[in-house]
Amino acid sequence: MPFYFDTKSLYDRSHPCCYPSYFRKMSQQLSIAQLIAAAQEFGTPLYVYNADNITAQYQKLTSAFAQTDTKFFYACKALTNINILKHIKSIGCNVDCSSINEVKLALLAGFEPNNVLYTSNGIHFSEIEEAQSLGVHINIDSLSNLEKFGKKFGHSYPVGIRLRPNIMAGGNIKISTGHDKSKFGIPADQLTTILELVAKHNLHIQNLHIHTGSDIKDVDVFVKGIEVLFDIIPHFKELKSVDLGGGFKVPYKEGDGETDMILLAQKVKEAFDNHPNPNGNPLQVWFEPGKFMVSASGYLITEVNVLKETANTVFAGVNSGFNHLIRPMFYDAYHQIENISNPTGAAKHYTVTGNICETDTFAWDRNIPEIREGDLLVFKNAGAYGFEMSSNFNSRYKPAEVLVKDGKAMLIRKRDTFDDILRNQVL
Ligand code: LLP
Repeated sequence: MPFYFDTKSLYDRSHPCCYPSYFRKMSQQLSIAQLIAAAQEFGTPLYVYNADNITAQYQKLTSAFAQTDTKFFYACKALTNINILKHIKSIGCNVDCSSINEVKLALLAGFEPNNVLYTSNGIHFSEIEEAQSLGVHINIDSLSNLEKFGKKFGHSYPVGIRLRPNIMAGGNIKISTGHDKSKFGIPADQLTTILELVAKHNLHIQNLHIHTGSDIKDVDVFVKGIEVLFDIIPHFKELKSVDLGGGFKVPYKEGDGETDMILLAQKVKEAFDNHPNPNGNPLQVWFEPGKFMVSASGYLITEVNVLKETANTVFAGVNSGFNHLIRPMFYDAYHQIENISNPTGAAKHYTVTGNICETDTFAWDRNIPEIREGDLLVFKNAGAYGFEMSSNFNSRYKPAEVLVKDGKAMLIRKRDTFDDILRNQVL
């Protein structure tokens, strides 16, 4: 994947992290040898993450947006292992949470409350009260909770409002969140009611938030969202920031592009330059990238249990399933599969399936170097919404997780044991 070091780039050359040599030192991809060594040391199925890749993705964002006052909050729902959160903190990124427990994890990882954002949806007001007591930023996404917040806190605690801009965007309907039938956010067409509530309780609104979906490649979608906000911004005199959410596209298969960050940064800058805040203070722009930060950092290593030749296809059955990586079955998502035990073997067609007692196909009729039983198959781009959406379906264990950092592979989550299956069951 190309890096943005070219002359178009807006990155800050005076900053050591932006020297091309700094990037060269970082290894974007784990080698086959590293993956095999991890599988041998920790067993399979295994999630392995590359810290360097996360760092490089973050630097792509900060260098592209160097000319705009921007703050990035990693949407940690993509991958919440506390060691990943600590790495995210160590590179200077902030964190966005979607539950009070994610907020607590972030604080435990060492983030200052001021660097933690809680973008809530559909939650009980008590969770908002708890977030307030922890001192983090909060985005409220319903009139009902906004009213309760106003009654309880009035002007005393600055807060953000999540708006639904009524824009259709995202890779597929399941991950589109800004359209006019989506549950997320307060519909922008209810602005009058929002303003009445704000006035009634003298609410201190410091942030306006939108998030239209995931897998968004077209930068104009973000611009459209900003344009919706430009009509709303003038009504909020104490506004400090505008939060454009996450949703940047990452390439899953060859030929896929990713969101062009340089272009997006230029368009965002132009849009805000052309619409200075009528209330005076310039607005900081916030983003909440999830996939962009961690997707490519992650690998799911599995082992082939059985090969089954049939009239229609050859099944390669691995020691995993949608209990470990649900994206192919849930979103029809494509993940590249490499046979790291036989990378130069002659390619053949395989249907790669799991060991779950339900159809759990990872890939249909995929061209893969010859597979033998016992080979290690690796699913790429498994860092975001991989382990995080895993389960114990069929009473199978969740995989272990390993982080490769500074050349060392560290176990960051133990594999489940039978005790974990029984935990909380009343015997
Ligand atoms: N901010 C908010 C308010 C969100 O709801 C999300 C994702 C993000 C940020 C981060 O979006 P990202 O940059 O990761 O696209 N499980 C699905 C994706 C669901 C995204 C849910 N919300 C998948 O595996 O494709």
